[in-house]
Amino acid sequence: MKPQTVEPCSFTEGEIDLLGDKSIAHRAAIVSAISCGKTAIQNFPPNKDCLCTINVLKNLGIKIKIEPAGNLTKTVTVFGRGLGRIKKPKQPLFAGESGTTLRLILGVLAGQNFKSTLTAGRFLSNRPMLRVTAPLRKMGAQIKAKREAQNAKPEEYPPITIKGGKLKAITYKMPVASAQVKSALIFAGLYAKGTTVVIEPIKTRDHTEQMLKYFGADIKLLGNKVVIKGNRKLFSPSNICIPGDISSASFFMILASIIPYSRILLKSVGLNPLRSGIIRVLKRMGADIRISVFGSRLPAAQAGFSEFEPMGDLIVRSSQLKGVTVKSKEIPSIIDELPILMVAACFAKGKSIFEGVGELRVKETDRIKSMVENLVKMGAKIKVARTAQSEKIIISGVKKLKGSNVKSFSDHRTAMSMLIAGLAAEGKSRIDDIGCINKSYPNFLTTLEGIIR
Ligand code: S3P
Repeated sequence: MKPQTVEPCSFTEGEIDLLGDKSIAHRAAIVSAISCGKTAIQNFPPNKDCLCTINVLKNLGIKIKIEPAGNLTKTVTVFGRGLGRIKKPKQPLFAGESGTTLRLILGVLAGQNFKSTLTAGRFLSNRPMLRVTAPLRKMGAQIKAKREAQNAKPEEYPPITIKGGKLKAITYKMPVASAQVKSALIFAGLYAKGTTVVIEPIKTRDHTEQMLKYFGADIKLLGNKVVIKGNRKLFSPSNICIPGDISSASFFMILASIIPYSRILLKSVGLNPLRSGIIRVLKRMGADIRISVFGSRLPAAQAGFSEFEPMGDLIVRSSQLKGVTVKSKEIPSIIDELPILMVAACFAKGKSIFEGVGELRVKETDRIKSMVENLVKMGAKIKVARTAQSEKIIISGVKKLKGSNVKSFSDHRTAMSMLIAGLAAEGKSRIDDIGCINKSYPNFLTTLEGIIR
């Protein structure tokens, strides 16, 4: 347990170099591993989740070198073995609490002609996996997982044993909008005979697709459809520089917005349009965010990748936020930012409505429950309306939140959101345990301490 007390701050100012984007880093490591050649991944974030992916890949026989590159960040060199030359692991592959590691690697293992088992930590062992095991079985993978009913419906959980190889291409209409599931199917599609088509109900982050394009895969993005041809070699571009994590940046965007007299510069933030919903929603709320997108200013090693994953600097100044309505179709582009957006909505004038947020229930923790319980304790006005199909959160802005004892529920994004809420509240707050922040952002607290006055 690592408790943390938070006192209100007067204003914030400064510049922030973010760690590399967690989602992109997982993909960079995995795609490098299954491609031909050596890839140096710069600005690799040394958070717990990404290190889980590195460990799993090492256990699959991939040589990986990790070197410090200043300010906590690492350069990770992956010696690719090509699509089919991954080795049968000697032990179960431990994904820790990283859902991205587990679901994405399942897609790669579906293409391997050996049996292996993926295990997970306490929380990930209770997150739903049928969404990914069901379509991989359709492609021909043999999969056994822990089965338990959830609300009278069958569900599957880790540990998962998979024997792959000889996959057939399928056309699959995904019932849930999930980038992790889509990515697993795309990876399996790389090994399948024929053309795999994945159709999303709502477009989710396309980092896997962009990364594969950068490595020369035969992949096409046609609206909500991803079309991928199997059995094509991937070739390393030699270098990748991961842009700063926009999900991490969102905590500072909102802190600077709600604390008067603030000005924060966020450097080299990833601006993939399917991830930058947070900027669009905050601007609708009246946030003062100025963006300068990088183009030719970048050094050569970064310029190539930035055609696929754009980045830029953001300057955020404080402003009076107003309520906003966010429709279901926007949710995938802000799925990880919803907890901190709920904090922003508490400080906004008027009512905010977030529709179609049911997926928040199956994240690291039930994030609707964790955030509502904490914010209500601090004096927020929140209602959750649930129907059989959908769920929405309605927040009426209040003048001030009051400092309280709150909980992280062992969830990194709940912990970071509550730290921000505490800084903007009246009076002292205490969060029971912030150790979980290491999952995505090991130096969050130090960075935060550097900008609060
Ligand atoms: C992620 C996808 C999202 C997101 C998670 C990271 C990814 O999960 O919440 O933090 O890297 O693909 P889902 O695919 O479950 O929506």
